Amino acid sequence: MRKKIVAGNWKMNTTVSEGVALAKAVVEKAGEVGKGVGLIVAPPFTHLVSVAEVLKGSKVALSAQNCADHVKGAYTGEVAVDMLKDAGCSWTILGHSERRQYYGETDEKLVEKVKLALEGGLGVILCVGENLDEREAGRHFDVVKQQVKAVLYNFSAEDMKNIVIAYEPVWAIGTGKTATAAQAEEIHALIRKTLAEKFGAELAEETTILYGGSCKPSNAKELFAEKDIDGGLIGGASLKAEDFIGIALAF
Ligand code: 13P
Repeated sequence: MRKKIVAGNWKMNTTVSEGVALAKAVVEKAGEVGKGVGLIVAPPFTHLVSVAEVLKGSKVALSAQNCADHVKGAYTGEVAVDMLKDAGCSWTILGHSERRQYYGETDEKLVEKVKLALEGGLGVILCVGENLDEREAGRHFDVVKQQVKAVLYNFSAEDMKNIVIAYEPVWAIGTGKTATAAQAEEIHALIRKTLAEKFGAELAEETTILYGGSCKPSNAKELFAEKDIDGGLIGGASLKAEDFIGIALAF
């Protein structure tokens, strides 16, 4: 049985004190969520140490939203994997569409980041997803398949055990326009097939694939009922503990 996960990407939201309060509220409600569902929160870098303190002893794991593509040194403004580990992270999100779009994150850079994250002992949530033009041109299958191959085909089946994939169609992020369960499922199935072609069917079956893009308590049930959707990467709705936990309760 592959792992079910609901992860909250807080993006560039909340002050440290607001983030600590949000983490406390998530921890308080986390007991309602079944044992089989993993919970992860990904606050901004400045919050990590304080939020780690709140999460201690709870079932909620801590993730960063990004990591540096170097181990250490003269890279002003960057945060290294070692620092994230030491701050209490067990995961990092990588390749979010906002980083690809606004900060020039390339597949080549992502290969380096995934490598460093895994070597440093962090699990990786790798984001993929097509934009609106690509979907309207009917290129969504090709685009997502290429994104998966460009990064993950550089890794081994053993590495894949610490990698989760998040399918986030860019046109559904923060727009209130969720992919239908059927639209999401066909891409999730394609991702799994793409993994199977390189790593074998068994590994592909064991890989957790999350959906992200305007996921909320009211649509999570339908999405999570699909056979290849193993949970969600949640943006806006993860900023309210009740909604975030409400999504995890959809399982
Ligand atoms: P929203 O849930 O706000 O659409 O964001 C999704 C997302 O980008 C999570 O990484």
